[in-house]
Parts: sequence; C-alpha cells; structure tokens
Amino acid sequence: MENREEVIKNTLEYVKKKLEKDTSGHDYYHSYRVWKIAKRISKVEGGDIFIIELAALLHDVCDHKFTSDKESCMNELKAFLETQGLKREEINKIVDIISKISFSVNKIGDDLSIEARIVQDADRLDALGAIGIARCFATGALLGRKIYDLGDKNNSINHFYEKLLLLKDLMNTPTARRIAEQRHRFMEQFLEEFYKEWEQE
Ligand code: NI
Repeated sequence: MENREEVIKNTLEYVKKKLEKDTSGHDYYHSYRVWKIAKRISKVEGGDIFIIELAALLHDVCDHKFTSDKESCMNELKAFLETQGLKREEINKIVDIISKISFSVNKIGDDLSIEARIVQDADRLDALGAIGIARCFATGALLGRKIYDLGDKNNSINHFYEKLLLLKDLMNTPTARRIAEQRHRFMEQFLEEFYKEWEQE
C-alpha cells in the first residue's frame, strides 16, 4: 500500500516540473485548482478520492498543447506512477480518466465513471468565473485571437459564447452545477461591463 500523502506531494512536484513553462492557462496552478475543486466536489458526490486527486493533478500533463508526442508522454506518466508504488489497476483508472476528459474527446458524462465525471467538472469549472476570464484571454493571445472584434469571429469575447457560457449546462454533478451557476453570473456581469466600456457609455 502506497503512502497516499507522499504520492500526492510527489505528483504535485511532477506536475510543476512538467507544466513550468506554460503560459496558455493550462499551467501548474490550473492543475492545482482543478485538484482542489475536485476534492471539494468529491466530498459531496463521492468516488475514489485517491484516483480523483491524481487524475485531477495529472489531467493536462500530456495535453497536445504542450507535447508533440502524446504516447511517450503517457508512458512516462505511467512509469512515474509505478515509481510511486501504485497498482496496475489504479494506474489504468487514472490514465483512462485523463484520456477521456482531455485531448478534446467529447465524451458524454453518462459514459464516464464517477471519478471521471468529477475531474471533468473540476476542469470545466476552472474555465469559468474570474479565473476563467483570465485564462480565456491568455489562451486567446497564444492562439492569435484578438480581445474583441466585431468583424472577426476569431476573438476571445466570442469564445464566451462558443464555449464558456455553455459549460454550466454541461456539468455532470449537482455540486459542480451550483458552483458553475455562480461563476456563470459573474461572467455575464463581466461581459455587460465590457460592452459598456467598449462603447464608452
Ligand atoms: Ni485542464
């Protein structure tokens, strides 16, 4: 039996090293927040907390945005988990969650385990609210999006309508939905203020 506290601590270090250079909003602190929110959701919604914590921390480590060779990244990740004394079965569960919720695979919540549904909710919640707004513009800049442009759909404000404002209805768990609603309202307030300032009203 692995020392779970120690494993989490080592995983935090592993993630920090892997995502050190990210400026797209998928950095170490994103993983850290997803981990924290996932723990909070799990307290109410259940699931295997150890699996949830590790999958939350590791969910973006091999995301295509930072790694050209996803397969070798995932192998390295599995090897890391082996060094932490995890059982094959636990490693498989974690890898399964990561590959289902990341990599832009749009899995329907019902097909997912409770652990995967919680990590997916936590990841989506971090795209909402004040943090979500900050991340939207950071990612936007990296992808060459303008802040806002009426004549060009490729802008970060438009991303609110294409994705961020749709997320609250995609939450898997009631706990996440409640948190999402609050963050959703904040984004609507932000947009309202943004348009006012844009027009100098
Ligand atoms: Ni993420």
